[in-house]
Parts: sequence; C-alpha cells; structure tokens
Amino acid sequence: MNSQERASFGSKLGIVLATAGSAVGLGNVWRFPYMTGENGGAVFIAIYIGCVLLLGIPCMVSEFIIGRHSQSNTARAYRKMGGTGWGLVGYMSVLTGFLITGYYAVVSGWCLQYVWASMCGELSGDSAAIADYFQTFSTHPWRPLLWLAAIMLLTFVVVAGGVRRGIERASKLLMPILFLLLLIIVVASCLLPGAGAGVEFLLKPDFGHLSRGVFLSALGQSFYSLSLAMGCVCTYASYFSRDTDLGKSAIQIGIIDSLVAIMAGLMIFPAAFSVGVNPDSGPSLIFITLPNVFQQAFHAMPAVGYVVAIMFYGLLSLAALTSLISLVEVSTAFCHEELHITRSRATLLVISAASLIGVFCSLSLGGVDGLSIWGKSLFDAFDFVTGQVFLPIAGFLTCIFIGWSVPSNIVRDEFTNGGKLRGTYFATYLFLVRYVCPICILLIFLNQLNVI
Ligand code: TRP
Repeated sequence: MNSQERASFGSKLGIVLATAGSAVGLGNVWRFPYMTGENGGAVFIAIYIGCVLLLGIPCMVSEFIIGRHSQSNTARAYRKMGGTGWGLVGYMSVLTGFLITGYYAVVSGWCLQYVWASMCGELSGDSAAIADYFQTFSTHPWRPLLWLAAIMLLTFVVVAGGVRRGIERASKLLMPILFLLLLIIVVASCLLPGAGAGVEFLLKPDFGHLSRGVFLSALGQSFYSLSLAMGCVCTYASYFSRDTDLGKSAIQIGIIDSLVAIMAGLMIFPAAFSVGVNPDSGPSLIFITLPNVFQQAFHAMPAVGYVVAIMFYGLLSLAALTSLISLVEVSTAFCHEELHITRSRATLLVISAASLIGVFCSLSLGGVDGLSIWGKSLFDAFDFVTGQVFLPIAGFLTCIFIGWSVPSNIVRDEFTNGGKLRGTYFATYLFLVRYVCPICILLIFLNQLNVI
C-alpha cells in the first residue's frame, strides 16, 4: 500500500486530540490522584512533571518518528526501519496492545454500567451497600459482559468508521465534552464545605515522603499515562502529516494529559475530604468510595449529587472509550495491512478476539472458578504481564533502537521535518533517548521485579 492511499488525520487539532484521547484514560482519573496523595502531594506532582518532560515526551517523540517515518502499522514500522530483529519489538508492542484491550474493555464496561446505575439511583444506601453493589456486579456471571459488549460496539462503530471519519471525528467531539465535565465537577467539588483540606492534601509539598520509590512510581505512572510502548502512539503517528511538528505535538499532549490528571485530583480529594473519607486506591476508589462520597457530600442538594455522579461516570466512560479506540486501532491497522483485509473486517476480527479475552478476564473475577494463572486471576495476570513486563521491555528497546540503531540523520530528518524546522532541541532529545531514558526504564523494570 503506498502512502498516497494511506489514511491520515485531517488537522493538527485532530492529531493532538486523538493522541491525547489515547493518553487520557482511567490512569489519569484514579491512579494519578491516589499516587499523588500517597507520595507527598506537590512534590510528587513536580517529579511527575519532570518525568513527563525528560522521559515521557522524548519516548513519545521516538514512537512518533518510527510511526511517521514508516507510514505503517507498528509491527511493520519497526521491521521497515530496522530489519527482522527490531521487527520483533514491533510485534511485541502490537501484542501488548492487543492483550491489554480485553481487560481495559472490561473496566470500561464497568464505567458505562455505573453511568446507568447512577441514572437509575441504584448507587445509594450506606457504604456497605455500595461496596456490596460493586462486589455483586463485578463478579456477576453475565451482567458485566453486557456492558463489555456495549463498549465494544461503540468502539467498533468508531474504529470501523476510519481514521478521519471515525477516530478523528470522535476525538474532536468527545475530548471537549470530557474537559467540560471535568471542569464542572472540579468546581462543584471545590465549592463543598471543607474542600480546602483536600486541595491542601493534594498540593501541599511534603518532602518527608521523598524516596527512591517516589521517583520510580512517578516514572512508571508517566509511561502508563502517556500510553507509551503499546504501539498506540506509533500507530497514530503513521497517520500524521509530513509537516506535523512532532516535538511540539508531544509537548502539547504531555501538557493536556498532566493537566487532566491534576484536575482529576482536584475533583476527587476535595469531595472526599469534605465528608472525611480517606480515598483509597484501585478499583475500589472509583467504584466504591466515590459513589459514597458523592452521596454524602451533596446530601443537602441530592439533585446536584445525582447529576455529579452521572457526569463523573460519563467522564470516566469517555476517557476509557477514547483510550480503548486507540488500543483497538493498533491491532486493526496491523490486521488490515498484514492480512490484507478491509478495515471493517479487521476491526471486527480484533474486537471479537479482544472481547473473548475480556469475557475470560471478567469471568475470572468470580463468575467462574479456576480461571487463573500463577495464582492470580486472569484479570490480574494480564495486567501484570502487559503493564509490568512487556511495557518496560518494549519502551527500553524502542529507546535503544532510535538512539543507537537508526542512523541519526534519519532521526534528525523526522524531528525537523526534513530540515524545515530548526530542531533547536534535537541534541537534547537525542541525549535523553540515548542515555537517560533507557537507564531510567531499566530502573523501573528492575524495581518492579523487586531486583533492586
Ligand atoms: N494511558 C491510559 C490511561 O491513562 C492507559 C493506557 C496505557 C493506554 N497504555 C495504553 C490506553 C495504550 C490506550 C492505549 O489510562
């Protein structure tokens, strides 16, 4: 397929919003705020922003370069630029993206179900009742599967619609709605009595927490949050135009992603502190603690609480949907180009296969016994293998590939759009990708495996 007939994004805004849509996801809304609270508030935010600037953005630019230079799906992109050996890294990224799709879709389905539940007023009662609701729902044999099917159907409609008419159009519509919802909830949350304590908890610099672990958590979170090393950024970049400024786009996406993460903190902590609840981590934060917080915080104005809860889960669903779209696109582009099937067939194939994984992941949480590997439920096992093993390996190898294997004149050419841009920061970029990024990624990896 030559580059003439290859799909592309139609505008700069579309490029930034679609890629930011991939980056802004569940990681921003529940993981970042909690980690910030745990790891010293403003100090963590500062370290996190440092990680995004020094590591996340250079790695994102590297994936941009690979994708745009080769104008292909991720597996072929690595192969085209580096031969069969490096091609394996591309295959690994596609595989990671594919494996994560199923379980990301399960959680996205839960978000959708919670929009419905808040509309029907099902998320009421005391905190035990709400915890019980989540437990009963997530381990139910088929109810989560219906919502999985619903979110997959939405994703199908967008991805099968094509790059410009599906993905770009959906991102331009959904991302502004997401920002608006976020802004409204932040204002509502910060206006609650006693909200100041939450803002203070989130933003007060507390140097007492500084440790190696804080740096490593910030680093891991920045990679996860920017959707790196799963082929998404690389696949989207293959639809960028020749005159897209890669460095500038990566910075804009980094800023949007970090801003959403910080605003998510300003949405959750003030409300939680205003009712004296200490927010905890993981699924229980968004699916158990928060329904409770909304209900209590707005008890004097139940109508506001009702609307805020619907908006919150709507926001989560949108964030999850745009990320899911990018995940599905990685394998869709792969199947479309490698198996030479039409885009809609490729989408159908990917969504059916990923849904099957999703079904098993969902059932492994309680619907069916015995769905486990290495003593973990399938759900946790997928999370572990993709996020903590494949992701750092692919990220590390991508830096080595661009920093050391691809001739630097090719890298410079992409960075400066063939000399049209001045490329003031090229030397800095290359230094970061050659030395700083690989060392830091290696550190996270070893730390995750408890080797250091
Ligand atoms: N960045 C997403 C988030 O913040 C999660 C994620 C990681 C992701 N890798 C991805 C999403 C790849 C889409 C594609 O939640």
